Amino acid sequence: MDKFTLTIDGREITTTADKSLLEAALEGGIYIPHMCFHEDLRPEGACRLCLVEIEGVEGVKASCSTKAEKGMVVTTKSEHLEHLRHLAMELIIARHPAECTGCPKYLNCELQSNKQFIGGSEEVRVRKQIKPISVNDSNPLFTHDFTRCILCGRCVRACYELRGVGVVSFIGKGKDTNIGTAYDRLLMDADCRFCGACAAVCPTGSIRDSERYMEGKDKRKALLPCKNYCPVGIDVPRYVRLIAEGKFDESYAVVRESLPLPCICSYVCLSFCENDCRRGQINDPVGIRELKRFVSERHTDFWKRDLKPHEPTGKRVAVLGSGPSGLTAAYYLARKGHGVTIFEQDAQIGGMLRHTISRKRLPKEALEDDINEIINAGVEIRLNEGGKTIDQLFEEGYNAVLLAIGSTFSGPPALRFKDEDLNITPMGGIEVDTYNMATSREGVFACGDVAINGVTEDFIEYTKSEDYYEDFHESLIEGMVANRGDSYRSATIAIKSGKNAAEGIDQFLDGDGDLTERFASIEEEQSPILGREKGFSRLGRRADAFQRPVPQYAGMDPAGDALTEEEAVEEAKRCLKCNLRLKITPPKFWTEY
Ligand code: FES
Repeated sequence: MDKFTLTIDGREITTTADKSLLEAALEGGIYIPHMCFHEDLRPEGACRLCLVEIEGVEGVKASCSTKAEKGMVVTTKSEHLEHLRHLAMELIIARHPAECTGCPKYLNCELQSNKQFIGGSEEVRVRKQIKPISVNDSNPLFTHDFTRCILCGRCVRACYELRGVGVVSFIGKGKDTNIGTAYDRLLMDADCRFCGACAAVCPTGSIRDSERYMEGKDKRKALLPCKNYCPVGIDVPRYVRLIAEGKFDESYAVVRESLPLPCICSYVCLSFCENDCRRGQINDPVGIRELKRFVSERHTDFWKRDLKPHEPTGKRVAVLGSGPSGLTAAYYLARKGHGVTIFEQDAQIGGMLRHTISRKRLPKEALEDDINEIINAGVEIRLNEGGKTIDQLFEEGYNAVLLAIGSTFSGPPALRFKDEDLNITPMGGIEVDTYNMATSREGVFACGDVAINGVTEDFIEYTKSEDYYEDFHESLIEGMVANRGDSYRSATIAIKSGKNAAEGIDQFLDGDGDLTERFASIEEEQSPILGREKGFSRLGRRADAFQRPVPQYAGMDPAGDALTEEEAVEEAKRCLKCNLRLKITPPKFWTEY
């Protein structure tokens, strides 16, 4: 689109014809107060805060609904505009409670911010007409506090324009106008899709995320819990959506982008993603792990279409142990072009995955399917070879050694390598996200349970539990548990630890440490339109099709029946698509201009 210039407050601003005067000014760093305008919504021109004067045009104009034109000369500040803006603000706050400090949106409220920008006025021309409306906390996920509503209509437009749902609307007439649902129904009964667009665009604390749900949570994570609480950060909304669209191969490819052991995890992961799934606040969480199992069981080689071999680096890594963390690290290091050998003291690959989990929970086929892909990536596996010392490995020409030997039966690695001085220390902090262990010896790294248990007691606290095993202990590292059958309890965390180790080792070997892979072709943009669906919120999860692993049974509970294609598609359609909310442009306050 052709660019042109216009003048705003004496400054030359370059813009395009699709922009309003307000957008042109904001992009040029000139703030004009606005309340009913939102970048993602059609302008309404209702609040009258954004008024400007245009040379040669009579009266004043709402800048949000006036298109920018070449050569325009615009003024945003004058005595007259100030007078009108104060009046507009008075009208808005006439129905808004005067106290702000009790509002959960305090200091994050666009009304409060605009009022501060405009400043106070001596004159009071509009009488307060607050209608107390009691806070409605009977809906899941969202709180309605319509006493704080300023009728800007953003929520109404977001629900209708952005999502095609139209559940929230203006109710009543004249001074009795409010926001609500038809017949004052609960959101569940009004066919709400619970996408959160209304809360995302609300400029005040009128529609907000329920404190009941958000309490104690990191908001950034809690708005997309499935992805953010997955230890390896799988793009859950994307793979679930692809299942709903019948694109099963693409869905599996998305899982593989973050997880090299998808078949195994689809049986044994403890579904951290489901614990906080927002759908669970309405009725049942989406059966995310079973959906992963569905695509993992039927996958083809589609995901390998874009698999590009890396240039061999000539560097060699010895991985001791073939449990989930060792397999993961070996896979990624091989993908980065390093020569990788796994030394396994046992006669079979898999470590605790193979030895502590019942085949009724983790079928042999799933285990072998994933392991075969590790071998296909070029990893050499030497079975019955567990007795090497670290010195021997370096003498054999390995450039780095990774201890992925677990700790369950033999204690921390320092005990097993008693001739070596191996203090294991966190390289990147002790949170799972940054969990990455180096040892006191250059070129020797640790991951998985060996890393957890090898960390000094400053970081680990062992506590006896009344649980199934006497030796159950929990670490201070959030989410980390270690006991017999660790691979079952925390396979996905072990995988994350293996990924972190691979990043660290790749960097040690002069690589960039970037393990990002893209297997699913970039599909067309996800449609933000959800549409209205009768009874959507009541759609339940088929109880007998979902048997989540039970930690207490430590891998002995059977896996249950897999979903049929029809069930998988139906289940995937229950997803609230919380990721769409994060695509809504967040508010920017005047202090940011
Ligand atoms: Fe322009 Fe409300 S922002 S009239």
